Amino acid sequence: MDERLAIEGGTPVRTRPFGPGHDFGEDDAEAVAEVVRTGAVGKGKRVLEFERAFAARHGVRHGMSVTSGTAAMHVAVAAINPDPGDEIIVTPWTSGGSIIGLLLHNCVPVFADIDDTYTLDPADVEAKITPRTRAIIAVHLFGNPCDLDALADIARRHNLFLIEDCAQAHFAEYQGRIVGSIGDIAGYSFGGKHLSAGIGGMVLTNNESLWERGLLFSDAALPRAGGPYAGRPYANYFLGPNYRMNDLIAALLLSQMKKVDGYIEAKIQAAQALTEGLADLDEITPQRVRPGDRNTYWVYGVTLDTDRLTCDAWQFADAVNKEGVPMGGPYLGTGKEGPLYRNPFLAEPNLYGHSRFPLDYGREHAIDYRLIECPNGEQLMQRGVNIQMRPSFTEADIADMVAAIRKVTVHYRKPVFALA
Ligand SMILES: Cc1ncc(COP(=O)(O)O)c(C=O)c1O
Repeated sequence: MDERLAIEGGTPVRTRPFGPGHDFGEDDAEAVAEVVRTGAVGKGKRVLEFERAFAARHGVRHGMSVTSGTAAMHVAVAAINPDPGDEIIVTPWTSGGSIIGLLLHNCVPVFADIDDTYTLDPADVEAKITPRTRAIIAVHLFGNPCDLDALADIARRHNLFLIEDCAQAHFAEYQGRIVGSIGDIAGYSFGGKHLSAGIGGMVLTNNESLWERGLLFSDAALPRAGGPYAGRPYANYFLGPNYRMNDLIAALLLSQMKKVDGYIEAKIQAAQALTEGLADLDEITPQRVRPGDRNTYWVYGVTLDTDRLTCDAWQFADAVNKEGVPMGGPYLGTGKEGPLYRNPFLAEPNLYGHSRFPLDYGREHAIDYRLIECPNGEQLMQRGVNIQMRPSFTEADIADMVAAIRKVTVHYRKPVFALA
């Protein structure tokens, strides 16, 4: 075989495209068509059925469907009814969708560092608590559960809410318990994750008052039949947006629910095969999964020991891509814009017009995200590369991925004498 890298003009390991990330078939089309034929495409019985089914899968009392994962995280924060300027502790290595809602709710994100699970380091979370902290958001990144016992313990001792962000972690398990059922309230995205309708989200909670406020908030605080304010005069009772899901989306999600366990099982198997295939490459360390946890691998992430390579993680991912295997560079994007505290919406505070609100609300000095550092995460995530998992991956696909990653690693490996 031509061992020259494809990026340097060699023959790529793989030229065939990979299979789809979801199995959308006639069954799904029929489920949606059925709703269209009824003409009742708004929020109706399919939404109710989906909320019940999804909540039941988690053993949780209440499911509140919404329009996106971003909306779900907003509802989760709104449900706890924080005051402007209240602080919510969160990882900076997550989608903006984890924190957009809290900012729209005039709260401020306080960033805590992560460990090699790519999720919150409980010790740093505790160090970041102030009298204004109201909640912790536990993001199960890539499908890997946070240390929920430790975070729940901190939340309990400091009287904080624990909000789970399960957008990337559908049906993942922390020590045998399904995520989304452990914190006070949890948010999900259906915009392209394991269970997907291209859009949509869900909020789960066992807490009656969080359910009441969250449900009302997601629907403009209107007194709907069957809802918490049923029977009251028609009015908007407090400020809330319209985040209602409709029956078209719910019908597609109900149909996809029948297949999602298969998707997840296939991704877990593929991830295990990748880990086994790459085990002898000392330069590569997979995201750590705690024994007893179930990572559902929306994304397969590894850290590169770039001290032993002559390339950085971006060059590595680029070379693997040229070998015909789709690989992402460091999450989230480049080192400069990587963690959320470096994203323009926080680093160049322009959240509301020309004000510094809410970063200065009730504070002598406005929070300046340019001064924030999370050193462990910076070290770890700028050396990270990842593969978006697909249920269609075959053994031959995995063999090609391993071959491409091996070829690139060997090519960029520093000679041993250079390590001294
Ligand atoms: C961890 C996390 N939270 C929230 C969101 C927001 O979800 P959505 O894109 O459905 O608004 C995402 C989306 O990628 C996510 O990955």
